[in-house]
Amino acid sequence: MAVLRIPEHGKTLTTREEVAGYLANCGIEYNHWTAAQQVAVDAPPEEILRAYAREIEALKARGGYVTADVIDVNPQTPGLEAMLAKFNREHWHSEDEVRFIVAGRGLFHIHPKNGPVVAIEVEAGDLITIPRGTWHWFDLCSEHRIRAIRLFQDTQGWTPYYTDSGVDQNFQPVCLGQAYFPLSAGETS
Ligand SMILES: [Fe+2]
Repeated sequence: MAVLRIPEHGKTLTTREEVAGYLANCGIEYNHWTAAQQVAVDAPPEEILRAYAREIEALKARGGYVTADVIDVNPQTPGLEAMLAKFNREHWHSEDEVRFIVAGRGLFHIHPKNGPVVAIEVEAGDLITIPRGTWHWFDLCSEHRIRAIRLFQDTQGWTPYYTDSGVDQNFQPVCLGQAYFPLSAGETS
């Protein structure tokens, strides 16, 4: 379950309905997927894509996405710092940014045209769709681990255009972490 913070208002939202509702007002789609079949989080990419094929195909049909892949980032990823530095400044894309989180955790900051900056912390099971043109930036949480399905309308267009507003400098990339996430069935603390 995602956690949404509105730092300017000192507000934190933690229920699925509240998070989805607030983001919908910002033009961001938030959803939660459950795999049709059990799949290990470290399964090969094709197995991950197969497990969520129904949801992926529905999203493709709705959003005009043509391809899907699985990105895997961990502390051993070569060039990790350079990769993160590309996306942790406020930017926008000419394509939607669609991410379904398979494992790990990350923090999107979204800067709506008419509203305060929103920090949304995503974890396994969360789907977020940031429409093209939306100002945003992204950080990994301290574990530096994320595995996610990405959907593309055109992979050639996947370029960050920087706003150079400096707004991102006003926000600490702080993840609230496990304490905010209810344990899954079968897990113990
Ligand atoms: Fe982005």
